[in-house]
Amino acid sequence: MSAPIVSHLDPDSVRRAAEILGNGGIVALPTETVYGLGASIDSASGVNRIFTVKGRPTDHPLIVHGSSASILDEVSDHPSEFARRLAVEVWPGPLSLLVPRSQRVSTSVTGGRDTVVVRVPAHDFFRTVVDHLGSPIAAPSANRFGRVSPTTADHVAADLGNDVDLIVDGGPSVIGVESTIVNTTTSPPQVLRHGGIPIEDVEALLGISVAESDGTVRAPGTLASHYAPRCQVVLAETAEEAKSRLERLPSSAGIVETPPSTGVYAATLYTTLRTCDERGWTHAVFVLPHDRGLGRAIRDRLKRAAATFEG
Ligand code: TXA
Ligand code: MG
Repeated sequence: MSAPIVSHLDPDSVRRAAEILGNGGIVALPTETVYGLGASIDSASGVNRIFTVKGRPTDHPLIVHGSSASILDEVSDHPSEFARRLAVEVWPGPLSLLVPRSQRVSTSVTGGRDTVVVRVPAHDFFRTVVDHLGSPIAAPSANRFGRVSPTTADHVAADLGNDVDLIVDGGPSVIGVESTIVNTTTSPPQVLRHGGIPIEDVEALLGISVAESDGTVRAPGTLASHYAPRCQVVLAETAEEAKSRLERLPSSAGIVETPPSTGVYAATLYTTLRTCDERGWTHAVFVLPHDRGLGRAIRDRLKRAAATFEG
């Protein structure tokens, strides 16, 4: 049976979600980036169910979500000055910080690592549930492992509806791509995943350049073939290149209309990937945005979506 979908505006939804999480259940919750599949970090059974339901290997760690910047000292013993500054400046917002793990977080959440990735989401409902529950919430994106992340409650219902206890509809995710992940344990910090906050903004806040990941810490969700729809994603740098690629594809292929800004591109990207499948397209040609700001995250996700079919 499919899980009930409740509105975040329903006055009883916070209590209902917090009660399920407190009893070891799993609830799909809205965030500004993508929908998360949440469990209390204090529930071993809830955390285990996340891995089972997603079909995700248990060494792929989960992001821990709090309701205010004080989460940093709760889940980490010695966060760096970089982490402290970013937490105060950006949270709530689409930035996740890799910090040393404190005893508060079990290794089942962090895939056995001594680090934890933490963030405070900008969706009010999510933070209110954390406060009601009284524990941080571990939440990966609410999709099956390797597939497109959900940006609406309907996406979650289509993918995981039969396996979760409750879905909270908080409207479409306004940013539409996952959070940026920064490793704050190195100097300079390193970007592990480009995402909802442009790395240029992080650099401006810190007043230094952030390095690309040196590969020592690997965020496992950054596997080459991720975010994959069923239709084949074909990439082009320009509209002209898109046209010439289309000419060489079967008739059931199309060019995706390029959104007017990177903000709109990000916000609609995952819905568009799903729509290609619904249209019955075998191939969808995307014109990549420029390689800066939010464009980096969009290029990254599109390249991973395309990589699945390239071997
Ligand atoms: O926007 C987001 O970040 C969304 C919303 C729900 O908050 N969450 C999300 O979680 O994208 P997930 O699990 O789909 O992606 C988290 C990524 C994964 O690649 C995971 O391997 C990596 O973060 N990660 C988490 N903890 C880590 C750690 N301790 N060390 C290295 N990588 C870690
Ligand atoms: Mg994910």
